[in-house]
Amino acid sequence: MSRKKNFFAGPSVLPLEVLDQLHEDLLDYKGYGVSMIEASHRGQPFEGMYNETLALLRELMNIPEDYEVFFLGGGATLQFSMIPMNFLAPHTVADYIKSGTWANKATEDAAKIGDVNIYYDGTDTKFSSLPDPKSVHPSENSSYLYLCSNETIGGIEWKDWPETGSVPLIADMSSDLLSRPVPVEKFSMIYGGVQKNLGPAGATLVILKKDMLERQNKNLTAYLDYKLHVKGEGLYNTPPVFSIWGVKLVLEWIKRNGGAEGMAKEPP
Ligand SMILES: Cc1ncc(COP(=O)(O)O)c(C=O)c1O
Repeated sequence: MSRKKNFFAGPSVLPLEVLDQLHEDLLDYKGYGVSMIEASHRGQPFEGMYNETLALLRELMNIPEDYEVFFLGGGATLQFSMIPMNFLAPHTVADYIKSGTWANKATEDAAKIGDVNIYYDGTDTKFSSLPDPKSVHPSENSSYLYLCSNETIGGIEWKDWPETGSVPLIADMSSDLLSRPVPVEKFSMIYGGVQKNLGPAGATLVILKKDMLERQNKNLTAYLDYKLHVKGEGLYNTPPVFSIWGVKLVLEWIKRNGGAEGMAKEPP
């Protein structure tokens, strides 16, 4: 069979080994007598698969202990508004690097919630430039500095990261996740839709430094409150089960192929 590859919007190509494994285990997940996509998310076999997925992510991305890791629905797009709703305090400002389609959408949503300072604007260069990371020093009063690590449409990618001191650094890494080693400890939050790099569409990976929960705005509705997802260990409501299962298989494939360092070389 000749397989076509999607380089257009939405989901991307998955390793054939992963598709084979999904196919093989679809009807009866590892002898449990039930499919993973029929099983409750409040019992085995889901819990075993879920915990292995989180452990693999921690291992492959080298995620420190003081970070929470969970999956949400709503795509990366939901995070454009959830981030300011949670972390842009009233009467304060957040810094945004306007680098292209995706950062711009995040900027527009944040401006509906609070004050946005466009720290760097790539408009004049038609979004073909980024600031030198060493020159980025947000003011201490900033609620956070936001960037998109890889502008999937414009194709511009950060090679190094700003040191933001006490100002939390937040990054959309939707099309960058596990494509190269990333020093997670430099960021207060990393998130991304999994459908580009890590699995089938449906789940959004959120990696959140625990101390961010102390900075949250109050009176958030349930789903939009990161704290509830942390308290519920990512299972506050029904998670995108199929997508997470696919992520687990892709992570195993990434591990077999040299981890983040392996992905940064020639694709296998
Ligand atoms: C960098 C980046 N951010 C955000 C999005 C939006 O993601 P979603 O469709 O999961 O909402 C995309 C989609 O391709 C993207 O590439």
